[in-house]
Amino acid sequence: MTAAATHESFLEYRRFRWLKLGIGLSILSLLPFFVMAPPAGHNGGTWLGYTLGTIGALLILWLMWLGIRKRRYGPGNWSLKGWLSAHVYLGLALIVVATLHTGFEFGWNIHTLAYALMILVILSGIAGLFVYVRVPTLMTGNRRSQSLDAMAEQIVEIDGEAANVALGLSDEFADLVRMSQNETRIGGSFRRIVTARDPNCGTARAIARARDLARNLDPRTAQRAAELVQTLGRKQELVQRARRDLRYKALMDLWLYIHVPLSFALLITLTAHIIAVFFYWG
Ligand code: HEM
Ligand code: HEM
Repeated sequence: MTAAATHESFLEYRRFRWLKLGIGLSILSLLPFFVMAPPAGHNGGTWLGYTLGTIGALLILWLMWLGIRKRRYGPGNWSLKGWLSAHVYLGLALIVVATLHTGFEFGWNIHTLAYALMILVILSGIAGLFVYVRVPTLMTGNRRSQSLDAMAEQIVEIDGEAANVALGLSDEFADLVRMSQNETRIGGSFRRIVTARDPNCGTARAIARARDLARNLDPRTAQRAAELVQTLGRKQELVQRARRDLRYKALMDLWLYIHVPLSFALLITLTAHIIAVFFYWG
């Protein structure tokens, strides 16, 4: 493999091979659609309709196969990058193939439900694509080559430093250090993880309160209080980074929890659609 090939992303895989094939498939579907004029208009029941429907259904089965393929390790001449590239571009081409299949006839029925689910799966796929392209870079920048465990260790160290600084101050400050130790949470509820925010963060409250208290102190003690605020500030920055790390990890998984179950719902509805049309026609 050349150096250039090693660094190409899955979107550029083999000089956009799958993008070209996806566009090719779309054109091949569009041409007969515009050239032919079936007497009763376009719909899923013409020979073109059946052909496009069958291609669409096979594509969907193949797209779902990725879930099984990526979990199979071992020998074999396959690359996840290539599969993912094909998945993305053929998944997008499905919009053209399936829409032409329907002949733009939509209604409140199982057929249109299958179509709507397909569009939702594709939209969630696009959201996932953004996550895959953006989040790893954000994650590396946020970590600054420090693991979550290393951040947690450093937070404990700073807690010790803060306790030492507070020794030279009144009990109120010692209480604030304890509050920061006991009431600072990283993670927790779904909302806290996804927003990377804790509106009730013990460290944030301790910093605000310590700043208030410092206003009424003599200059020497005030300086020590400022040192405490600064130490807690360093902790706050680390805590925030740890929260963002968890958030990024959650985002990498979250969209798949939408993409995959919707794919199964699509598969079931599509089966119902195909059975329904065969009963109708038969
Ligand atoms: C083997 C695959 C497929 C076959 C045999 C098939 C068959 C058909 C047939 C015969 C019709 C015409 C029904 C009518 O005029 O009442 C139709 C319509 C339709 N198909 Fe398919 N189809 C297939 C795949 C798909 C796929 C992949 C989708 C999208 C996810 C889809 C969505 C629709 C929709 C929305 C309609 C229009 C329904 C309407 O007229 O209200 N079909 N299909
Ligand atoms: C109806 C169309 C589609 C179906 C049925 C489908 C289905 C699936 C399935 C079953 C997986 C495997 C997930 C797992 O088990 O971990 C997957 C992964 C994925 N899909 Fe789709 N997908 C579709 C369209 C798309 C589109 C249009 C895009 C992007 C534009 C996309 C992006 C992705 C990505 C980025 C992954 C993650 C692969 C990985 O983690 O290795 N999908 N999809």
